Amino acid sequence: MTTATAQWERVLLPNIEQDQTEWLDAYVAGGGYEMARKALGMAPADIIGVVKDSGLRGRGGAGFPTGMKWGFLPQGLFPRYLAVNADESEPGTCKDRPLMEQRPHSLIEGVICSCLAIEAQQAFIYIRGEYYKAARVMQQAVEEAYAKGFLGKNIFGQQGKNVDLVVHRGAGAYICGEETALLTSLEGYRGYPKLKPPFPAVSGLYGKPTIINNVETIVDVPHILRRGADWFKSWTHERTTGMRLYSVSGHVKKPGVYELPPTVTLKDLIYDICGGIRNDHELKFVIPGGSSVPWLKPHQIDIPMSHEGVAAAGSMLGSSAVMVMDHTVCPVWAVANLSHFYHHESCGQCTPCREGSAWMHKILRRIEQGGGRMEDLDTLRDIAGEGKPGSGMISGKSICALGDAAAWPVGSALGQFHDEFVEHIEKGCCPYKNKRYWMAGGRFVNETFEKMPVL
Ligand SMILES: Cc1cc2nc3c(=O)[nH]c(=O)nc-3n(C[C@H](O)[C@H](O)[C@H](O)COP(=O)(O)O)c2cc1C
Repeated sequence: MTTATAQWERVLLPNIEQDQTEWLDAYVAGGGYEMARKALGMAPADIIGVVKDSGLRGRGGAGFPTGMKWGFLPQGLFPRYLAVNADESEPGTCKDRPLMEQRPHSLIEGVICSCLAIEAQQAFIYIRGEYYKAARVMQQAVEEAYAKGFLGKNIFGQQGKNVDLVVHRGAGAYICGEETALLTSLEGYRGYPKLKPPFPAVSGLYGKPTIINNVETIVDVPHILRRGADWFKSWTHERTTGMRLYSVSGHVKKPGVYELPPTVTLKDLIYDICGGIRNDHELKFVIPGGSSVPWLKPHQIDIPMSHEGVAAAGSMLGSSAVMVMDHTVCPVWAVANLSHFYHHESCGQCTPCREGSAWMHKILRRIEQGGGRMEDLDTLRDIAGEGKPGSGMISGKSICALGDAAAWPVGSALGQFHDEFVEHIEKGCCPYKNKRYWMAGGRFVNETFEKMPVL
């Protein structure tokens, strides 16, 4: 993994190339935990004020203003909880993992500062089941912090200041990244999302006020307290502030996690920072914000990588995970693959999401494998809509946004690559044969077929 070595100061992952865990002594030697000590002397409202002024928006996907969310906590209602969302299961997103594996104490310091801000004495890190190393590192770092008196009762020797932190491993379900499902799972039940309102800030874990924030959001907090809101805002595009981590995967020469300002353009990210497309192939399309967001074609990538910049091009910044596909990728195959993921991960509570994601997957596979019919395109369009919120039979019609996430890429792929869908149907096979990999019996096999059997 790499971070751009360009002119920007890297604060979240300064030594990412070294790929080493910074344990407590090294973290303290570099000024770590100073902000936690300082925050102990600050009024909670003042900490929230600085976070509000900084314009920090959640790094988990929706980009909700963090200070505003903290301000929704009902006055005088205790206990309160902080839950750190470390589920990171959206395909393409891999930025929280190096944060936890390499700088676990920066997350713990963020937890302490955030707990002091929201007056919570108990925090949880809900970590994706497959992130074994990250969970192990976090657990060890939490034990180090307890041993030093930085966590537990009377932290840093301050009477009455208590912060307990539990690392909780999930069992590998994407749905448990959705905030209400995460809390349900943390309570020990099946990870089903719940209708909102009430929002977790009012009634969350065990029915008590709970703040849920992404790992990167929480790691930002001590940096903002240390350097000030104006420093954070020195990297701003419209209403998107601060350096952030972009996970870049796919067909670039240098994939990795890059810490960059929101003014960086998607074009520069791909061609300058990530070295361009592998083997100098042509760019086919880009998924700019995690696998659920609408796709962009090459003429649409000269845009700032901020919430507003990506929205103006018709997509979303989401978790700032950029997936780059070159001209060898069949877009029908790619969207069929994504739809398999969402169908598999739908929790099944809501009929539109459960059935709709299954229909889309079956139809897409049929088209991709050469058995498609022209009327399939109308059916897909009815189900998925145009890749925009609220359009089609699924988006906006389920308890949580997984239904939207299943529909948007399909609607977008249909709009962006209509001719390719038609070509598959007319030819009765995938025109990209020999150029893709097929998942068979759990193994990737290089496929050289004329016409696949229809499911
Ligand atoms: C299906 C689904 C999966 C999600 N997965 C994650 C995840 O893995 N990590 C995350 O931080 N947020 C995820 N979210 C967003 C969370 O619900 C929530 O908005 C976020 O954790 C809030 O943190 P933030 O304000 O710091 O971004 C997911 C949402 C949905 C609908």
